[in-house]
Amino acid sequence: MSSNRHILTAVAWPYTNGPRHIGHVSGFGVPSDVFSRFQRMSGNNVLMVSGTDEHGTPILVLADQEGLSPRDLADRYNRVIAEDLVALGLSYDLFTRTTTGNHYDVVQKLFIALYENGYVFTHTTKGAVSPSTGRTLPDRYIEGTCPICGYDGARGDQCDNCGNQLDPIDLLAPRSRVNGETPEFVDTEHFMLDLPAFASVLEEWLASKEGDWRPNVLKFSRNLVEDLQPRAVTRDLNWGVPIPLEGWKDNPNKRLYVWFDAVIGYLSASIEWAERIGDPEAWRRWWQGEDAESFYFMGKDNIVFHSVIWPAILLGESGRVGQNGEPGVFGELNVPTEVVSSEFLTMEGQKFSSSRSVVIYVRDFLERYSADALRYFIMAAGPETHDTDFTWAEFVRRNNDELVAAWGNLVNRSVSMAAKNIGHIPEAGEFTDEDERVLAASRSAFDTVGQRLERSQFKAALQEAMRTVAEANKYISEQAPWVLRKTDPERMATVLHVALQLVQDANTLLTPFLPESANKVHAMLGGTGTWTGMPRIDTGRDTIGGSEEAVEYPVITGDYADNVARWESMPIATGTPLERPQPLFAKLDPSVVDEELARLSAEAG
Ligand code: MF3
Ligand code: ZN
Repeated sequence: MSSNRHILTAVAWPYTNGPRHIGHVSGFGVPSDVFSRFQRMSGNNVLMVSGTDEHGTPILVLADQEGLSPRDLADRYNRVIAEDLVALGLSYDLFTRTTTGNHYDVVQKLFIALYENGYVFTHTTKGAVSPSTGRTLPDRYIEGTCPICGYDGARGDQCDNCGNQLDPIDLLAPRSRVNGETPEFVDTEHFMLDLPAFASVLEEWLASKEGDWRPNVLKFSRNLVEDLQPRAVTRDLNWGVPIPLEGWKDNPNKRLYVWFDAVIGYLSASIEWAERIGDPEAWRRWWQGEDAESFYFMGKDNIVFHSVIWPAILLGESGRVGQNGEPGVFGELNVPTEVVSSEFLTMEGQKFSSSRSVVIYVRDFLERYSADALRYFIMAAGPETHDTDFTWAEFVRRNNDELVAAWGNLVNRSVSMAAKNIGHIPEAGEFTDEDERVLAASRSAFDTVGQRLERSQFKAALQEAMRTVAEANKYISEQAPWVLRKTDPERMATVLHVALQLVQDANTLLTPFLPESANKVHAMLGGTGTWTGMPRIDTGRDTIGGSEEAVEYPVITGDYADNVARWESMPIATGTPLERPQPLFAKLDPSVVDEELARLSAEAG
């Protein structure tokens, strides 16, 4: 693969309905960051965008419960979530929000393009209304029995048990989540997205991804396009992006559907980013033309929106289906290169649930443990291709055996021996065959690990990277430089030189996974400049929620373009002074497991 590709890393947008827990960030968060850092190190131009998803009924339901306006709730969690994601070191180029004026504008333009190309049409359906208040009841306000699998807790929009998309009227024994009453269904007019019009193009597109995407994601997606029905893209709601057509836009109770606006966020955030850097057309390099690639990261409950609905919107905007289509104001836009979806993380054998306190919030976790320790667990033991369970016992074991005893120890013993006995990175004398062999194996790991990262096979990539750590530890134990100190100091210097080169290589291989500690190792070896950039909270300025005046809001951004880390074996600089290092990772006492389990059951009450 050549470098200098344009790679859009499109990361699912978290709802502003609470702080992020470790289940959330194991799906969309850490994998997308590992991928982006690797691609940047490989010399590619990465644009990593996302933001908070602030519309829709989940936000309304919670705002109601907390006695807040949806705007206040969105403001609160937009900031909290941005802080959670920064604390994890997720290197967004721009993390913004869906209530900006820019986002409204882009969403409305895409809607108009679809409308003009004939891919949205009006249709009268039955909408749920509360008999006691006369208020419309949006999909998520309604619960009932799933007509497909029989699960009793299905929501009006989706069944969490079988994953099928639903309409409220499909539910058996529907009831309002507000007060339990049986809703009435009355006529209401909505815009439908003509998904069947895209069926054969989507089918062909998905077929071309065979052998390329994760098999379960592709299989699920190909099943979805076998039976496509038109889908409503508007709702009876007063919270969302207005419908940009006469007769609709001033109706306070009709809005675009949250999922319609949220997926367009990938484009609007790219445009906002381009404006921020003062090059308003720059976003096009990631969205148009043969050389632009896009990778979308999410949990599996988001697949349909990224492998069916978003591609349909993009194809419809581009006018690339049917006879008469014309591209909208943005021109032709690319469909996703890959939808990279994770499965679910459970927690000590249970589903995460904030309401039942079966949850560990990112911020609580990071008060007690390091971001790299969490990132390591997620990438080594997370739900990459099947559901996995987070247990404190396994977290402590991996931290102690793998991070501390293998990688931390390799860094520590190599750097301290060289610091103590030599004081700087030693020159190598003559290499033995064994020296040459370990150095070559270490260099070749960039190909093997890189090929896996390129395909989002993170677990296998991390395993390979950790294998080089094990090899390096074995080399040091066998060469026993501490014995050579008296008998053959020159040979000792060569062994330590080799050991430090192996540390440098392993650190590079682990950089996408463990950016914070990678920066520390870089500094230990006398490196200058920023090895791999860390994100920061900055300020965005735009109108918010249709307000008259521009206001400031927090965004995540960072400087990653001039980072020093490159995906190759970078030679250590002999002669660089070395100091005795601080330990890279903290060893955890096994009592942590019982403490955390006690905390969990206390909270779950
Ligand atoms: N807010 C959604 C969720 O948390 C994800 C939205 S992803 C987007 O499940 F693409 F639509 F933005
Ligand atoms: Zn179901």
